[in-house]
Amino acid sequence: MPLKHRRRSAARSSPFDLNTYLADCTAAVNRALDRFLPGERTKPATIHRAMRYSLFAGGKRLRPALCLAAAEACGGRRAEALPHACAVECIHTYSLIHDDLPAMDNDDFRRGKPTNHKVFGEGIAVLAGDALLTQAFEIAVQCRATPRYPHQAIVLELARASGSLQLIAGQVADLEGEGKKTSAAQLRYIHERKTSALLGCSARLGGMSANCSPAQLAALTAFGYRVGLAFQIIDDILDVTQTSEQLGKTAGKDTAAQKATYPSIVGLEQSRAIARQLTSRAFAALKIFRGRATALDALAKFLLERDR
Ligand code: IPE
Ligand code: IPE
Ligand code: MG
Ligand code: MG
Ligand code: MG
Repeated sequence: MPLKHRRRSAARSSPFDLNTYLADCTAAVNRALDRFLPGERTKPATIHRAMRYSLFAGGKRLRPALCLAAAEACGGRRAEALPHACAVECIHTYSLIHDDLPAMDNDDFRRGKPTNHKVFGEGIAVLAGDALLTQAFEIAVQCRATPRYPHQAIVLELARASGSLQLIAGQVADLEGEGKKTSAAQLRYIHERKTSALLGCSARLGGMSANCSPAQLAALTAFGYRVGLAFQIIDDILDVTQTSEQLGKTAGKDTAAQKATYPSIVGLEQSRAIARQLTSRAFAALKIFRGRATALDALAKFLLERDR
């Protein structure tokens, strides 16, 4: 066998390593984001520096990884899903910049650095968020359309997940829930919208980039929804159990702000049990991919066990 082919088959049979996978995804997404965004010297330089400051501050890039892994599970190529992954990460980063503003969660640290408004001021931070949200749609129209999913479907997917019925609805309910007694059902409503919607959207867009079948899209929807809920429960747990250094954002803020969280409503142990149960239900949604969803499977496990 020629050396080239031997190497390729050896690579294929080597065990899956999530750390390597995440590092590869992050590098590819960072390169693509750097190409999509105006350079930091492009006028007005302040806004481009502010956008890039938060975007390249060292986020875990979990939504892009979900998007790329979903594309691969559907037989697609990573390169085709990169614009979708970048669009989602722009929306996510915008939501964090605004979430940290004094008018919202009033946080001073994010991704291990001072928050956007601490460095650039509140006005520029609002605008950097606005610009990243808008940037996402500019990137979305540069995605390759597939026979089942024209640009209209991709743009609609992003708009729905980030709009006033999903991500924004969750953020509104999160703010309005501060200091109030919140039921488990209301908390589920908040988590579905502020977090699960965008994680689900990430997985679905990955599938769309690979022209997935309706059955595959339904599986990715169920997977993303469950993983997204588990993700926010773990975020709530980490706020209680980890240090600010470990998280790269101020720990203990949820209790201080009297936020409705899983630990505050059902306790830490029960919160962990619910996250575990959601994750096993997420694994179940992957059956349809018959062994091709190794990365999605590993990501779901990692999201449950993460410590930051
Ligand atoms: C934080 O998301 C915001 C939530 C929805 C809980 P991540 O924990 O994915 O943040 P980064 O992208 O790694 O900074
Ligand atoms: C953030 O939720 C959700 C969005 C930004 C849409 P949190 O407020 O819990 O996130 P952290 O803990 O600040 O990262
Ligand atoms: Mg918040
Ligand atoms: Mg917050
Ligand atoms: Mg949180």
